[in-house]
Amino acid sequence: MSGIGHFDVAGLRLRDNPARDACFRLVLSDTEMHEYEPSHPLARREMVHRHMSNEITSLDIAAQCLADFPDALWELRLELARQCWDESRHVAALARRLRELGGTKGEFPISAFEWNVTCALDDLPGRLATQNRTFEAGAMDVVAGLASGLRGAGDPGTAEVIEAILADEIQHVRFANRWIKRLVDEDRRVLLKVVAAIRFLAQANAALQAREGEVNAVGVALADPADRVPAVNVEDRRLAEFTDEEIQEVLRQAGFRSLSSEPAVP
Ligand SMILES: [Fe+2]
Ligand SMILES: [Fe+2]
Repeated sequence: MSGIGHFDVAGLRLRDNPARDACFRLVLSDTEMHEYEPSHPLARREMVHRHMSNEITSLDIAAQCLADFPDALWELRLELARQCWDESRHVAALARRLRELGGTKGEFPISAFEWNVTCALDDLPGRLATQNRTFEAGAMDVVAGLASGLRGAGDPGTAEVIEAILADEIQHVRFANRWIKRLVDEDRRVLLKVVAAIRFLAQANAALQAREGEVNAVGVALADPADRVPAVNVEDRRLAEFTDEEIQEVLRQAGFRSLSSEPAVP
């Protein structure tokens, strides 16, 4: 593992933040972020800025996997390299949209939580399980709902950028699903690493997620984490090759709220 250090929080050993331009201020918890009420004049710009930052983090994670696991199979390394290219285009597209909205990089705090957790894991299947199969799959749920909301609010420009990104994200989730399945089929012990990674992520969420009623840095009261689970993007999760059983489990966690036209039957 390369020379990026670690820090401890609530008994967990997380990876130190990645390098960022001096204009950015990195924070660790939701309460330090500037997520505004939807009606606030800065809400859309902050949202675009936050997604731009998350794309930088996705790029960093995929690139760090290439650096940390030089002996991974070539086809898997190729997928990660392609992901780096996709994520760099996502950053550029959102940076352009941010400027069109009058924003500048660094104007809001950012978090690299996904990096802090994922890059603390020292095995590649565990990283694919957290970053691609959990964080990016969760982002597919968020982004699909966001795009339709943006269109409804009269902002097709931002909706188009986000929908174009979503098309790439499906592949990032799909290749992780395929490779985890293949690696588990080849060696059942890999399943233990995947389970350990998901448990580690749950512990990190429990330690750092804002509790119901906590207030963020711009005075917005945050909802219970369970109520912040987005409606499930069933169609894209199918395209990303989640099984029916896995989709049912995600639906259950989301209170059976679905973005699909299909009925979300328990
Ligand atoms: Fe992306
Ligand atoms: Fe991605």
